[in-house]
Parts: sequence; structure tokens; C-alpha cells
Amino acid sequence: MAGNWKMNLNHQEAVVLVQKLAWTLSDKKHDYGQVEVVVAPPYVDLRSVQTLVDGDRLRIGYSAQDVSAHESGAYTGEVSAAMLAKLGCDYVVVGHSERREMHGEDDAVVNTKALRTLAAGMTPIVCVGEGLEVRKAGRHVEHTLDQVDGSLAGIDPEQVASLVIAYEPVWAIGTGEVATPDDAQEVCAAIRGRVRDTVGADAAESVRLLYGGSVKSSNVVGIMDQPDVDGALVGGASLDPAEFAAICRYYALPALSLLLILLVLLHKGRGGGLSDMFGGGMSSGLGGSSVAERNLDRITIGAGVLWFACVVGLGLLLRAGS
Ligand code: PGA
Repeated sequence: MAGNWKMNLNHQEAVVLVQKLAWTLSDKKHDYGQVEVVVAPPYVDLRSVQTLVDGDRLRIGYSAQDVSAHESGAYTGEVSAAMLAKLGCDYVVVGHSERREMHGEDDAVVNTKALRTLAAGMTPIVCVGEGLEVRKAGRHVEHTLDQVDGSLAGIDPEQVASLVIAYEPVWAIGTGEVATPDDAQEVCAAIRGRVRDTVGADAAESVRLLYGGSVKSSNVVGIMDQPDVDGALVGGASLDPAEFAAICRYYALPALSLLLILLVLLHKGRGGGLSDMFGGGMSSGLGGSSVAERNLDRITIGAGVLWFACVVGLGLLLRAGS
């Protein structure tokens, strides 16, 4: 899971966010082996993040948001791959749609940046994805695969295997519009297929594919459920440490829901009557709250209090036992 902060947070705010994120994740015993956690702060924050991560031996990785296409020299305002490697960056985002759109970066530039990143020993997160017009015309797969071909040109098969490719439909970035899990799966499967055809089955198996575009804790589970989606590139929601931690811990969310449902069923006895409990069923409760409200009698309120006590009690027991 990678959090792209874009042009937000100064170096002091960056330290605060990474600390909060690390605390939240360690508090919840996050399994870093299962889900890698990466933040992508602005350039000027990287040294502070490096100091914090090294000093506190945090398992959070960090990425730059861009890199120069040039090696070194008279390129005012640019930052080289060697400089980012020296700051301990694990990753570099290249070809983000905001760079492609606002700075005219084409696939050739993105490809050069990816090659520079790899040469400096870091991993590029190569961003691809279609705009609204292309999506409406139904050419999103073809368009995205063209970007994949152009951005990955000349990269060694072993290096392609280690890459991260982020599919970010431009119409879903920062708009609140989220592609459906099926949309994400359709394009990610096509990208994996293209890597298989052009580079080989091993590279297709190990390349990591992220989905990006309005990912939140409320929609991440469905997206991560897709067989060809390996992670997410998160923008706005990564600026809130609790929210980003919840996204990183998406694997725990279904378990929590299951636990709550089990508690409801246990309370009700012999596993029946969930709909009675909510006075006429979950769906009527969602569709027309007045029906649910009418049926929300004292028993339900008492049951709710009991479930809450059970959850808190269980949490305390688990904490005491660990
Ligand atoms: P968003 O941004 O999550 O705010 O839509 C994603 C991105 O641009 O990487």
C-alpha cells in the first residue's frame, strides 16, 4: 500500500504523520510481511522521514513522487535518482497522471525516469491509466496497454519482475469517483497479460499491480479482492494516518465484520433471526429507515449494548493475553 501525499505536509508535519501511522500500525500488530506500507512525501520531507525511519527502525518504506530524467548537471529545480537513492528511498513514482497532464510527460520521458530509478537501485512505481474521454470511448484497455509498452520499453525481464505498475484511471483520481472492483480487475488483468506476452510468465507473476483512484477504507476490501490487484496507490486518504492504517489493514476488516455478525447470532441464540433483530431485516433498515426505527424496540437496544460490551471485553482480553 503506497500513500501519495502529493504537494501536502511540510517536513515537520511529515514526521508527525509517519509517527502516528507507525504507532497505529504497531498498536494493531500490523503484519508487514502481508502488506508492505510505503509513503511518498514531497522531496523536501524525505530527509526527515529517513531520519525517523532509520532512528526508530520503522518498517515503513518511503518513495519519492518523481525523479529527473537526467543523470546530473544544469537542470535547475530537478532531483536526480542518485540523490534519492542516497536518501534511502525504496521507490520512486514515475509517470503519475498529474505529471503527464500538467508537465507534458509522455511515455518516453516516463521510460527514461523508470530506467534511471532502476539504475540507482530503487523500484519505480510506474503509473498508467486513461482519462474520461478514452474511458467513454471504450478504449481504456488499449490506451493503458500502450502506456505500459512505452513506459517499460528496454527494461530487462528481471527488472520488470521487480516493478510496481499502478493503474490509475484519471477520472477517478481525487474526484471521489472510484472505479468498480471489476473495472480495476479488467485493466489489471490486461496489464498482467501484456507483461506475460512481452516479457514472460515469471515477470507477469511477480510484477506488482496497484489500483489508484479515490481508494478509502470503505472501498479497499472489494478492490483488493480482485485476483490481479496486489495493492493500492492512495492519494487523499493517505493524509489521515488512521484512515491510511485502516486501508493497509484491509485484510482485518472482513474478520471484524464477521466477528460482529457472530456476536449478533450468538446473542440471538442458535444462529437465527438476524432480520428480526433489526426489525424487519437489514435491507429494509437500509432502504427505509422509518420501518427500522419503528421496530427498534428496547430489546434491540439492550442487545446492541451487550454486543458493544462483548467487543470491548474481547479486545481487553486479547490485549491482556498478548
Ligand atoms: P486519490 O489519488 O486517492 O486522492 O484519488 C490517487 C493518486 O493520485 O495517486
